Amino acid sequence: MPLILGIETSCDETGAGLVRDGVLLGDALASSMDEHARFGGVVPEIAARAHLEALPQIVRAAVDRAGVGFGDIDAVAVTAGPGLATAVQVGLAAGKAYALSLGVPLYGVHHLAGHAAVDVLEHGPLPGRCVALIVSGGHTSLLVLDDLVRDPIVHLGDTVDDAAGEAFDKVARLLGLPYPGGPAIDRTARDGDPAAITFPRPLTSARDDPYGFSFSGLKTAVARWVEQHRGAVPVADVAASFQEAVADTLSRKAVAACREHRSATLLMVGGVAANSRVRSLMAQRCAAAGIELRVPSPRLCTDNGAMIAAVGDLLLRAGLPPSTLGLGMRPTVTLSRALIG
Ligand code: KG4
Ligand code: ZN
Repeated sequence: MPLILGIETSCDETGAGLVRDGVLLGDALASSMDEHARFGGVVPEIAARAHLEALPQIVRAAVDRAGVGFGDIDAVAVTAGPGLATAVQVGLAAGKAYALSLGVPLYGVHHLAGHAAVDVLEHGPLPGRCVALIVSGGHTSLLVLDDLVRDPIVHLGDTVDDAAGEAFDKVARLLGLPYPGGPAIDRTARDGDPAAITFPRPLTSARDDPYGFSFSGLKTAVARWVEQHRGAVPVADVAASFQEAVADTLSRKAVAACREHRSATLLMVGGVAANSRVRSLMAQRCAAAGIELRVPSPRLCTDNGAMIAAVGDLLLRAGLPPSTLGLGMRPTVTLSRALIG
């Protein structure tokens, strides 16, 4: 069975992973998160420089942890988009260099397909058809997946403004919590009351697009509440109440999509799928509706190299032709195919 090296550099995580036949053999990750913290968000030039410096060591560490040699690698998979242009470019150039020097094919991979594919490494092959909820820092989408690498990916709905992770990051900033905001809100919310404040559940009325998302209004509602209570903001209660609004909105829509599309399985992936309340409420509502919930463990929900290797492994086993070495980066590519050719 072929061995795939996966490389991920779309944002602030530098990741490499080795996958063979649906099994993660080893991976490694570096993050430039701390360098961005004082700016309150990812600075593209800083992220790109950090990838350039970290990538050789991260690839080496992943290869060592997998207990393989560079000569054992049969293909290289690399994120070709979407993401920060400067950051994607570093990984893509490195991926081409590894593929060329090892004399193996290169597969350009859609980052969001990686978020979905990583679940295969923990829970086995995906069902023939399922509904997937992708909730990351840059994207929020409800999808119908058939064969993840062979078939076109159908979008039931997307966010019309902020992504769920973006809302976590912005609300954290409002509350004076550190970047990245998602984990900070998750931690802070543990000491808060999720019913303390009833924040809006956006696009959940009967007139609204059932599978559309909008988080910018929710963020504004939190900002307004914080402004009105200046000097006496119960940070834990606000964090817990905001988190509850997101978890409630995501789970209502995802369960409705499974029901309408008769999907026995919901796949929930992306950085926000690491959130403890999003996971528990989704699990509760899926169980009540008789839907099997598949969610990767938290460390594989956020960006990593294993997820890109997982797509490469599926592409190779499906016998799909590789990308060319002339492949360009696609910083804003929408998710319609796992392979970026
Ligand atoms: O998937 P990801 O690592 O990168 C993108 O592809 O965007 O997602 C990053 C996003 C960030 O917005 C981060 O705040 C959020 O995922 N995130 C979380 C948690 N961990 C990461 N949001 C809520 N709760 C968490 N525990
Ligand atoms: Zn991501």
